[in-house]
Amino acid sequence: MRLLEEKILRNGRALNEDVLLVDSFLNNQVDAPLMAEVGKTLAEAAKELGITRVITIESSGIAPAMMTAMTLGVPLVILKKSTSRILKDDVLQTEVFSFTKNAAYQLTLKKRFVLPGDRVLLVDDFLARGEAAHGASRLIEQAGGSVAAIGIVIEKSFQPGRALLTEKGYKVISLARVARMGEGFIEFTEADA
Ligand code: G4P
Repeated sequence: MRLLEEKILRNGRALNEDVLLVDSFLNNQVDAPLMAEVGKTLAEAAKELGITRVITIESSGIAPAMMTAMTLGVPLVILKKSTSRILKDDVLQTEVFSFTKNAAYQLTLKKRFVLPGDRVLLVDDFLARGEAAHGASRLIEQAGGSVAAIGIVIEKSFQPGRALLTEKGYKVISLARVARMGEGFIEFTEADA
């Protein structure tokens, strides 16, 4: 997505070789018109997949996922990150370890918001090692849904997330794929949409 790559080059900043700061349009402040374009692009890329629900992980996934759900005309479901296990029969949980934050959390789905047979487009802001997307996919499948595709705003292609997900058979649609970055430069490889 050319518009997104231009935005990353203009307003993103590589803090080092691993971490891309995008607080001015994705994490802390949201560029709403850009998110509308992100939503349209993901919805277009997934339009033949029979999507019945968009699912995301709080918090930065919500803006792009909301715009995608709006374009597709389907509900948006939000997975929460809980610090502890909740023993209730209306939730499903799985442990996810974040290498970026060096901490584990319980990814939590309210079961009744995924129906057996649902075809889910999972949307998230970043793909790094793929732990969050993999955990979310486990929950969706436990609830009886299937993951038709995983839509990502920014993929760090030099990290192993994409390979992990594609090896497991998931279709990944990344709108910007960062091949390399460092102080003063960000390089992309060809995006999926
Ligand atoms: P993984 O799921 O792909 O394995 O990624 P990881 O656990 O390493 O990522 C943890 C958090 O860090 C996620 O946010 C992810 O979006 C974010 N993140 C990873 N790499 C970068 C990066 O280079 N730049 C920025 N800005 N964020 C990155 P989160 O904890 O879910 O936070 P939020 O959604 O509440 O903002």
